Amino acid sequence: MSFRNYKDKVDEGDTVILYLSNNLYAIDVKTEVKNKKGETIENVFQTPFGALKVRNLIGIQYGSRIELSKGWGHILQPTPEMWSLTLPHRTQIIYTPDISMILFQLDLVPGCVVIEAGTGSGSLTHALIRRVRPEGHVYTFDFHEHRSKIAREEFEAHDVADFVTAQHRDIIRDGFSEELNGKADAVFLDLPSPWLGISHAVNAIKEQGGRFCSFSPCIEQVQRTCLVLQENGFQDINTMEILQRELKVTKRTIPVRDLSFLKHKSSESPVEEKPSGDTSYVVAARPVSTPGHTGFLTVATLPPAFARSKAKKAKTEDSEDTDTSNVTHGDR
Ligand SMILES: C[S@@+](CC[C@H](N)C(=O)[O-])C[C@H]1O[C@@H](n2cnc3c(N)ncnc32)[C@H](O)[C@@H]1O
Repeated sequence: MSFRNYKDKVDEGDTVILYLSNNLYAIDVKTEVKNKKGETIENVFQTPFGALKVRNLIGIQYGSRIELSKGWGHILQPTPEMWSLTLPHRTQIIYTPDISMILFQLDLVPGCVVIEAGTGSGSLTHALIRRVRPEGHVYTFDFHEHRSKIAREEFEAHDVADFVTAQHRDIIRDGFSEELNGKADAVFLDLPSPWLGISHAVNAIKEQGGRFCSFSPCIEQVQRTCLVLQENGFQDINTMEILQRELKVTKRTIPVRDLSFLKHKSSESPVEEKPSGDTSYVVAARPVSTPGHTGFLTVATLPPAFARSKAKKAKTEDSEDTDTSNVTHGDR
């Protein structure tokens, strides 16, 4: 229940984050679990620093330090960012650098209606829910029945189910359902063939227009998506790759040689050369490795319906003109 509101203490049924030596683990606070034989046993979470009896977490304050046999950790309240780092993977997922750009590019604010396909492991869905609630809603679809079911169970367990509808549906074959026609402020697609979902996005986006975004690992997917976006009247079509470059401000100590002796070397009173001394500097250092390619984000705007029909009319007239001029040239 700990995703809904900030709270003070851990309750039974919460999902908590154990922060242990720069590693994060998600733990469901249940006193008992079933073992492989189906027997009910005490819930004990094994960590590299020793075992943790989960029942001991109930009633402690979020942020508390907890002692383990070989060290200590902290118990934190989960956020969508921490959930993306700890969730059980059922698919490839979208991570925070891409998620933050998706939320921004989709122009999402509390109260928006946003459609997502596919749900996958629900990494992006948790961030979408936090952005649009309490008045807004997320509709998320996946054609994999089990994934859709597990996602629904997670949204229930995290007490955010009122803000999201997770449905089992092939959106390429069946669209997003008639009830959603003209209801969405934004549509997001993370599918192998996003271009096949674009006509459904047009149906779902509100009459006043809205935003579209798709995530694709390969540039060939991007190319097809951009062409179909153009054919469907989208504007401001842009593709970007989000590469996070971190910097760490830290102190580095390096040996520095005093070169003042060189100045006086040929003078009558030369200065003696001193050995190198260590000096500390505050530097901004890059990490040893930088996260690489995840995918390309393609974003676009669907203009309001009146502008769409105007553009369509102009296009039809243009092509009729071209046809007539061809005939005229042919006659000559
Ligand atoms: C890469 S995963 C999405 C991961 C998700 N964005 C996340 O952050 O956890 C892609 C999902 O799309 C689903 N999918 C593929 N084609 C689909 C279709 N035609 N309709 C609905 N879902 C589809 C797959 O079952 C898969 O779960």
